[in-house]
Amino acid sequence: MPEDIRQVTHIDNVRLGEDERSVVIIDQSQLPNRTVYLTLRTPEQLYNAIKLLQVRGAPAIGICAGYGTYALARQWEIRDPAAFAKEFHHWKEYLNSSRPTAVNLSWALERMERVVTEHEGQSVEELLELLGKECRAIHQEDIEMCRAISEYGLSLLKDGDGVLTHCNAGPLATSRYGTALGPLFLGKEQGMDLHVFADETRPLLQGARLTSYELQKAGIDVTLICDNMASIVMKNGWVQACFVGCDRIAANGDAANKIGTSGVAILAKHYGIPFYVLGPTSTIDLNCPDGDHIPIELRDPDEIREKWYAEPMALKEVKCYNPAFDVTDHTLITAIVTEKGICRAPFEQSLAELFR
Ligand code: MRU
Repeated sequence: MPEDIRQVTHIDNVRLGEDERSVVIIDQSQLPNRTVYLTLRTPEQLYNAIKLLQVRGAPAIGICAGYGTYALARQWEIRDPAAFAKEFHHWKEYLNSSRPTAVNLSWALERMERVVTEHEGQSVEELLELLGKECRAIHQEDIEMCRAISEYGLSLLKDGDGVLTHCNAGPLATSRYGTALGPLFLGKEQGMDLHVFADETRPLLQGARLTSYELQKAGIDVTLICDNMASIVMKNGWVQACFVGCDRIAANGDAANKIGTSGVAILAKHYGIPFYVLGPTSTIDLNCPDGDHIPIELRDPDEIREKWYAEPMALKEVKCYNPAFDVTDHTLITAIVTEKGICRAPFEQSLAELFR
């Protein structure tokens, strides 16, 4: 693997601290200007890191929460297993309330809690041992899932293609290759000539700050565009496929991802460009029937009014609507690329098949 790609994909964006009582993350809110590592020890630090997008991206949030619950549990002096289970449940629920849309958060937390509930009667020492294994497994599985998604995704591209992506679904948001960006790293490794258009992704600029940073550092041809420029690059014939990540995929294939994703899908349909959603099966929520049932996070209006600007760009009292995600209707999605294969319509069947 070329060194420039390795330096981008093999990063410790989320890891367990040496003492196993903390979680160490790269503070994504400071990129690309500063690479700062944060050590999270308290429930509040973990909650705020997720809420403030210091750690972000659906899989990375899940991995952080998994390590987080384990790190917290190692700090308790509780020796009674029933009291331990009660305490675990309390803090798991607290972390789960930090952000509502990415199902990977509750998925990872449920997995961790099941370790406790399914081993009733075991000592706290034994439970801690099992919890340590589980959070490491969540991380390791994500590394493997990202690699498989990247391979399936790359099979949809040919040499010379242009790919448009929205938000950031690369190594920072996941493990190693990422999901939507994974095929691009893999393609580069294999000597393919791919061109990427990265939407800047208002209002928090994950596309500008993170996606264009990761791709540029890896030596991949990337052009940063404002969100409202997607239509012109498609019209110019520069985009042969759209690759986006996802935060929750409902049973019917509707997919929540960063706000603006559904607009990209609508444009892609207009220009006859295939629109692919890439994500691990941990992002599929078969208990959620359709996109109307996906909770959409609303964020601070100041992210629109003044964040990033030298001075506010709107009156303080102006009303703002700041949803962090939107849902792309399954009819706009050409295929959903998972680590187990590529699902096509009818998605109710193809997605359910993955879990049989
Ligand atoms: O608000 P964010 O930055 O956490 O939103 C992230 C996204 O929408 C990503 O595309 C998604 O989590 C997939 S990451 C593989």
